[in-house]
Formats: sequence, structure tokens, C-alpha cells
Amino acid sequence: MKGKLVIVMVGLPARGKSTMGRKLSRTLELDGVKTSIFNNGDLRRKMSSENTSSSTFFSPDNAEGVAFRERVSSLNLEKARDFLEQGGAVAILDASNVTRSRREKIRTTFPETPHLFIECLNADDEALEANLERKVELNEFSHLSKEEALASFLRRIAYYESIYEPLDVEPNRILVDSFESCILQEQVSYEVPYYDRIRDILTTRVVRNLFLVRHGETFYNLEDRIGGNSELTDKGQEQARALAEHFATQRIPIIFTSNYTRTLQTAEPIVARQNHCSVIALPEFNEIHAGLCEGMTYREISEKMTHVARARRLNKYRYRYPEGEGYKSMEERVHRGLKKVFYLNNYDENIMIVGHRAVNRVILSMFLSRQEEEIPYIYMPQNRYYHIQINPHRRIFELIPFGTSLG
Ligand code: F6P
Repeated sequence: MKGKLVIVMVGLPARGKSTMGRKLSRTLELDGVKTSIFNNGDLRRKMSSENTSSSTFFSPDNAEGVAFRERVSSLNLEKARDFLEQGGAVAILDASNVTRSRREKIRTTFPETPHLFIECLNADDEALEANLERKVELNEFSHLSKEEALASFLRRIAYYESIYEPLDVEPNRILVDSFESCILQEQVSYEVPYYDRIRDILTTRVVRNLFLVRHGETFYNLEDRIGGNSELTDKGQEQARALAEHFATQRIPIIFTSNYTRTLQTAEPIVARQNHCSVIALPEFNEIHAGLCEGMTYREISEKMTHVARARRLNKYRYRYPEGEGYKSMEERVHRGLKKVFYLNNYDENIMIVGHRAVNRVILSMFLSRQEEEIPYIYMPQNRYYHIQINPHRRIFELIPFGTSLG
């Protein structure tokens, strides 16, 4: 079958396979390539009236569980075959597919169609941990406490590890680090349709809708004081409520905040207004640490620490507060925060970050091409947010007002 392809995702649970699969599917569809995902986990949940989340269900010694999962896999293979026969171009098989025998079964089901195996690894323990925390929020674990669910999921992973056979004999294979979005190894033995495009998609950041918001007004803001962990004023809380109203008709599945109270308080009314919305607080998005100047007003700094005010004026981007940070020195941690966001958001179409003035400037600069000296002066108001969209066809940055009377 010319122009047809079977993509087989491979990897332990929670390694970013589904996110990668969705990114591939969505982007190929935008290119006009008819693509569909066949996810064994989703089908397993639909096919069984009982809860199949218990770790023993996944034990290789549980004959019933093994047989059930084989039936799920066979059914998805049939569905994928029908899809390709009825005009579909790319079928993505999203499951762990960790054994050679399972992969061989897939190959023999599609003898005429080229295959590409994509193995997802994630060597970043922190990101993996955060991903596990999200997984245990799924409905299938709702009968367990968080600790029980986590323990059960870890046992499930251990079962998969015990039978794991990494890719080696498969003729076409790519090993991807799904956290870093980079290709670690690749081997292609014959022509694979859309191969270059797939490589691009695996390694390029596509942002469908990123809403970059600054927290509402705080007591420190009123006094022009920097740093600290101040709370929102009444006006700040009103801004947060206006934001929640503004997003009432858009689905926001996760809000990424910093660890500071002001960003968490700004997220609260949005979480309350949405159906299912969780908050992930990332230390990488904490505001610039002003070191010895934490808690001071700008005026106090220019009066009592003249050298700081002067040096900062000369090169605000590269300047570092004594015993604190600067814009340049925040780049690495903020970049790491963004990688976590993309790894954890499941390639959902909407992402929201509630951050701070300096940190949001750095986030924005990672998408905009701006001279570094301009970055510390990017406009970052508390009654507007940036809507960012980046795909191969367009790059849009819009500053959108909400609660217009709350400037
Ligand atoms: O809102 C105040 C604040 O977030 C401070 O905590 C931070 O030091 C400052 O803004 C960053 O802005 P600038 O780099 O322009 O001083």
C-alpha cells in the first residue's frame, strides 16, 4: 500500500508515548494526511465493565489479564487495518508494545505496509514523577487514595519492565527522549513514507494555544515592593475572577503556576469555574530572586543600594542581584519549566501558565525573537494575557484584555 504507514509507539507507561502520538497525529492531519490513533488503554477501559487498573491485572503471570490485553491489542489491530483499507494513511498504535512478540504480531498483521517503531524514553526523574502524579488522577484510580494509586501504578510499571525488550531487530526505528524532544538513535532500512516530516514533528515545538498570564495585583505591588510571597489584594482577586469568567467557555485542563501564593490564588477561581482542571506548581516558574534586595521597594534600592540600581540600569538582562538572580541566569530553569509543561500537558490544545512579571518575560522571549536588551522591558500587565500560537503555518502573539475595568 503506497503512502501508507503504521507507526508503533513503544515504551514503559508514563514515558510520553500518548503525547508524542497525539502530536504526530494532529500535525500530520494539519498537513492533510489522514491519521488515526489506536490506543489500547482507552479500548481496555471501554471493553471492560470492571476496573482494570489493579496492578495484578498487568502481571505477566496473570493469564486472564494477559489474554484480555491480547484481545484488546488484536481488536485495535483490526480497527487500524480497516482504517488503512478505507482510505486512512497513517495508523498510530499507541500501547506499550514492549515485547518483541507483540511487535512481531503487529508486523505480520500489516505485511504490505511499512512500519516505523518509535520508542519513548524519559531520563528525567522529576518530570517522570510529575507525570506519575498526573496519571494517578485518572478516573480508573478514583477508588484508591493517592498513595495507593501511586504504588499500584509503580507496580504496573515494574511488570512492564520485567518483560521489556528494547527495539533492536525492527528495521525502522527511532529512539526519542520525550522530555527533551530529541532523537537519540535512528535506523531506517527502507523508504518510510513521511519520514522527514515525522522527524521534524518529534523534535519541533508546536504550541496550539498557550495562555501566558501574570498573577493579579498583590499587596507588594501596591507598595512597589519586589520579591516576597505576598497575597492578592481585593482588586487582584477580582482580576482572578474576571480571568475565570473570560475562560469559562474554554477548556483549561491544567494550570501551571509557580510555588508562590499569588499565582496559586490567581489560578483558584479558574479551577473552580472549569469542569476538570488541576494545578501543577513548578519551582522553575518562581519569580526572579532578588537576593539581598528581596522585599525592598525600587525607591529603597535606588536610595540605599545605588550600585545595584545603576548596574541594573546599564544591563538589566545580564545583571544579577547580589546573592540573587538576573534575567539571563533564569533562562536555564525557565526553559526546563517549559519542557515540563510540554511533557505534562498531554498535547492538549490549551495550556495555561500563571507566572510573574520577570519570569513571564523570559517565557515569552523563548518564543519571540527579541534582542536580549528588550526582554526585561516587555509589557506584562495584570489585566491582559498573552495568547501564543505556533505551528508550521503561523506564529501569533496577541495581548488579550480581560476584566477591562481592572487595569
Ligand atoms: O511584580 C513585581 C515583580 O514580580 C518582582 O517580584 C520582580 O523583582 C519584578 O517584578 C521584576 O520586574 P523588573 O525586572 O522590571 O524589576
